[in-house]
Amino acid sequence: MTNSLPEVPENPTGFQVLANIRTILEQDPETGLKTVQQAFASELERALAAISGQANDFEALKRIRLEFIGDKGGFTLANKQMRDLAKEHKAEVGKLMGQARGRLAKALETRNAELEEERAARILVEEAVDVTAHTPRRRVGGRHPINVLQEQMCDIFVGMGWEVADGPELESEWYNFDSLNFPPDHPARELQDTFFVEPVSSHLMLRTHTSPVQMRSLLTRDVPLYIVCPGKVYRTDELDATHTPVFHQIEGLAVDKSLTMADLKGTLEHMARAMFGDDAKIRLRPNFFPFTEPSAELDVWHPDAKGGPRWIEWGGCGMVNPNVLRAAGLDPDVYSGFAFGMGIERTLMFRNGVQDMRDMIEGDIRFSQQFKMEI
Ligand code: DAH
Repeated sequence: MTNSLPEVPENPTGFQVLANIRTILEQDPETGLKTVQQAFASELERALAAISGQANDFEALKRIRLEFIGDKGGFTLANKQMRDLAKEHKAEVGKLMGQARGRLAKALETRNAELEEERAARILVEEAVDVTAHTPRRRVGGRHPINVLQEQMCDIFVGMGWEVADGPELESEWYNFDSLNFPPDHPARELQDTFFVEPVSSHLMLRTHTSPVQMRSLLTRDVPLYIVCPGKVYRTDELDATHTPVFHQIEGLAVDKSLTMADLKGTLEHMARAMFGDDAKIRLRPNFFPFTEPSAELDVWHPDAKGGPRWIEWGGCGMVNPNVLRAAGLDPDVYSGFAFGMGIERTLMFRNGVQDMRDMIEGDIRFSQQFKMEI
C-alpha cells in the first residue's frame, strides 16, 4: 500500500470521517472503527433531521437526497473507499453502511409518499368543481314568438292528420298568380304591390302569399289531400305599426270527394278554439278571391281580447275554385276542396296583445323573452 493517505482534520465532522474512512482506520485501527461508527450515526441523524425539518416539497427532498447519497455525499464517498479497506474492516464498515443507507432510503421514501399524498389532497381541493356554484352564463337565445306560434298552428292540424307542406319564397308568377286563377290584369300583379325579380322575363317574384303552395301540393301529392303551409311572404309595404314588407302566413288546403263549406267551417272553428279558447267562434262574410268560389272573409270572436271580447278579421277562405282543380288535372265534378289563409303576425298581435308590428322584427331578445320558450 503505497497510496499516500489524505490528511484528516482535527475533530472531524461525521462527513469528514466518512470521506476519510480508510485513513482513519489505518491510522488507528483500535478507535478508528468506533469513530467511523459514530460518523455513520451522526451523518444519518443529520440526514433524517434534514428530511423531517426541511423537506417541505419535492425540490427540497431532492436536494437532501443529493447531499447525502449524490456523487459528493458522505455515504457515497464512504462507499467508494470500501474496496480499499483492509479485509478485517470491510465487513464491519459494509454493515454500518448498509444499515445507514437502508434507513436513509426508507426515510426518503416515506417523506416522498407523504408529499405525494399532500399533493393529491391539495389538487382535490384546488381543482374541485363546485357544481352548485353560480357561474356567469352566456345568455341563451329565445325562440322567436312568430316561429313558436307558427308551430303551434301547424300542430293543431297535424293533430287532425294533416301534413305540413312548404314551397319556395322566390316563386314563379305562374304559381303565385296564374295557376290560382288570377286574371292577367289583376291589380295584385302591379309592380307597386309585388317584388318582381329582374329580369322581368324570368317571371320570378317573391311570393305575395302562401297560396302558391296549394298548386305545388296539388301537382306533387295525391288526393285526398290535407295540408297546411306556414311561411314568409312579401309585399311592397312600408314598415309601420301594422304593416311590414315581410310577414308570415299559414295556408290550409283540403281536397277530397264531397267536401263542403260545412267542413271548412268546422275546421276553422276547431282552429279558432285551439288558438283562442273554448269560447272562441268564427263567422264568414262574403268576399272575393280568384282561387276560391265562394270566398269568404274569416272573422274570429276573441273572448280574451285586450279591451274586451270582440270580432277580429283573421284571414280569407273559401271553396277551391273549379278552375284551380282543373289546372291541377282534377275533375271538379269528382273532387271538391276548401282553403284558407291567415297572417301569423296578426294572430300574434291580437292573441298576445302586441301593439306594434315592429317589435316582432327588430330582434330585441327582451321581446322574445316575454313569450318564454313555450313550444
Ligand atoms: N292568399 C290570401 C291573401 O294573402 C288569403 C287567402 C284567401 C288564402 C282565401 C286562401 C283562401 O287559401 O282560400 O290574402
